Amino acid sequence: MRVFHREDHGTAFSAPSSLQEISDNLRRGDCVYIFKHVVPAGLVEAIKKYLSAVGSASLPNYAPLSAGCPNFHRMVRWEDARSAVRGCYQLFSFFPWNHDYFDLFGRFREVYHARNILAGADPGDYIGRTPTGDLAARLSFQFYPKGGGGLNKHSDPKLAHQMAVPVLTMSRKGSDFSAGGLFVEAGDGSKLYLDDLSEPGDVVYFNASAPHGVDPIDPEEEQRWLDFEGRWMGLFAVNSVSAAPEYRSADLGAAG
Ligand SMILES: [Fe+2]
Repeated sequence: MRVFHREDHGTAFSAPSSLQEISDNLRRGDCVYIFKHVVPAGLVEAIKKYLSAVGSASLPNYAPLSAGCPNFHRMVRWEDARSAVRGCYQLFSFFPWNHDYFDLFGRFREVYHARNILAGADPGDYIGRTPTGDLAARLSFQFYPKGGGGLNKHSDPKLAHQMAVPVLTMSRKGSDFSAGGLFVEAGDGSKLYLDDLSEPGDVVYFNASAPHGVDPIDPEEEQRWLDFEGRWMGLFAVNSVSAAPEYRSADLGAAG
């Protein structure tokens, strides 16, 4: 598994030769791209602080995805058989038709543009006030609590609207948590831990069909959801908003 560190997220997807190289490499599925400092570290901290407050002061609830649906947060637990991919985490979902205090889709527009270009879509697809076809962007922030928060290994289906899944690193391994974290599996079965290679504010791209998951975060520690200590990440997903209401887990990418 090759790792490319880049500093040029703002221009990498607009220069044809650079885009072609990134696209070809990601499509082969044997590499990851880590774009450094795409999001200011201060903004990452502000979002985590805000979501911790929202998460601790309001009830987790499920809301079906549909055009115009509200932003929401919900819990996913290992024993929940409704999830396509079992996991243990808190999920905060934002949609482009709702307002939010950070103007998230405005600030992160260039990541969605890049994601769309890699998938062969128009740069502005999915992030408007109404869906593109039956698809819409969903910005998912995921919190994996210490005490075993994680997500089982899986591969996401190859859908036309997704090729690479961009993930925003929001926690620092070694200080925010010690064990576990997001991995992508290489062809020989070895795991590449992306938290070892990135820092808060970096955006990581990998092929959604490569096996990936989140190994349990500090499993020896007591699990205390309301402390919001553990591992955070952001996922720049695109989802169908027309299917019948159902639990849609596999939020790490399936989503994507
Ligand atoms: Fe996934």
